[in-house]
Amino acid sequence: MQGKHILLGVSGGIAAYKTPELIRLLIKQGAEVRTTVTRNALQFVTETTLQTLSGAPVYSDVFAAINEHATEHISLPEWADLMIVAPATANVLAKCAAGIADDALTTTLCSCMAHKPILIAPAMNDKMWENPAIERAVETLRGFPNVRLIEPEEGLLACGTSGKGRMPEPDVLCEHVLAALTPKTMQGRRVLITAGPTVEPIDPVRFVSNYSSGKMGFALARECLRRGAEVTLVCGPTALHIEGYDRQLTYRPVQTAQQMLAAASEAFPESDLTILCAAVADYRPASVAQEKLKKQPGIDTMTLRLVENPDIAATLGRKKQAGQTLVGFALETENEEQNALGKMARKNLDFIVLNSLRDEGAGFGTDTNRVRIYSSDGAKKDCPLARKEAVARQILDGLTT
Ligand code: PMT
Repeated sequence: MQGKHILLGVSGGIAAYKTPELIRLLIKQGAEVRTTVTRNALQFVTETTLQTLSGAPVYSDVFAAINEHATEHISLPEWADLMIVAPATANVLAKCAAGIADDALTTTLCSCMAHKPILIAPAMNDKMWENPAIERAVETLRGFPNVRLIEPEEGLLACGTSGKGRMPEPDVLCEHVLAALTPKTMQGRRVLITAGPTVEPIDPVRFVSNYSSGKMGFALARECLRRGAEVTLVCGPTALHIEGYDRQLTYRPVQTAQQMLAAASEAFPESDLTILCAAVADYRPASVAQEKLKKQPGIDTMTLRLVENPDIAATLGRKKQAGQTLVGFALETENEEQNALGKMARKNLDFIVLNSLRDEGAGFGTDTNRVRIYSSDGAKKDCPLARKEAVARQILDGLTT
């Protein structure tokens, strides 16, 4: 979002208390933010707060006595790369759908409607959301090619009842902005991603696994979504959640390597691009005890017999058809390049992404990674240490698929 101009419209609902945080997140991502508000919005959030956080005057009054920004409703849309209205009350939704422009926010929105990408995040009581007039307004707005409605969420509402009408949290809104600004270079492509660890049970309370958190795979899945792809994410046990923008993923949670193979094999035939980021256990316990294994008095060693797991990458590599691209990962601790290239050849991969545990900040669990991408035609690309989101972008840019 570096250098992008985001115009934030705030209308008078209780969810307006969340918009200062949205400004902070957008600015943290490198965007410049300007705000326009309805008079009622200022009952919920102050002009001082919005001005301080955005670092710019708030456009709130078309007819202010001394108004150096007399034509802000025209110049702000020209300045903006995208406008987001959060929260959008029932009143603003209905006006916007009808083309009514009677205050700073709605005049600005009106002049944006035909020219700029617009995100609208409705927030209201569930009874108001169910009003047929509002439903009609929503339908009308869905018909505008450059308008995208961010569906309100179900949950506890300000009036104390529960229902649909909550504005999504600022981080989710921020993700929608990021996605809306991302060129849709993967539109129409189907992507399969494996992520996280596999967990191979020993008995009902113990297992064999590894330190993968799923962060790298999630970052790849999100970036593919932002670029317009249809994404299936097959993921081992992880602390990460599918919420907000990620709900657009087809999510297949699994535990074991055998389950991961089954889920990946199902999605693979339809997939144009498959990225195998999961850290799959190479071996699993030969048998799973039905009851918790007990400590044996007087016996101070224990042998666990392991059997080989299926190799998902190699299995898919054998089934790969022309037009399908298969990408593996390799996490190495020594002879990194040689080991990675060996895996690419043995598993019939088109690319392999190498991360080394010898690089600080790379690999398991971290928020950052440092990778090198090798292609089967001999090319290689270095991606310096960066957050996994940025590494995901570089990986996808590096796959000439
Ligand atoms: O999840 P994070 O905490 O963010 O960490 C990310 C990561 C370090 C797990 C990721 O960047 C990574 O490197 N994943 C691969 C880990 C690994 O150890 O791979 P490998 O060298 O064992 O396997 C090579 C390739 O074969 C991988 O694409 C792997 O998914 C695949 N494989 C391996 C074994 C097996 N039985 N089936 C497989 O498909």
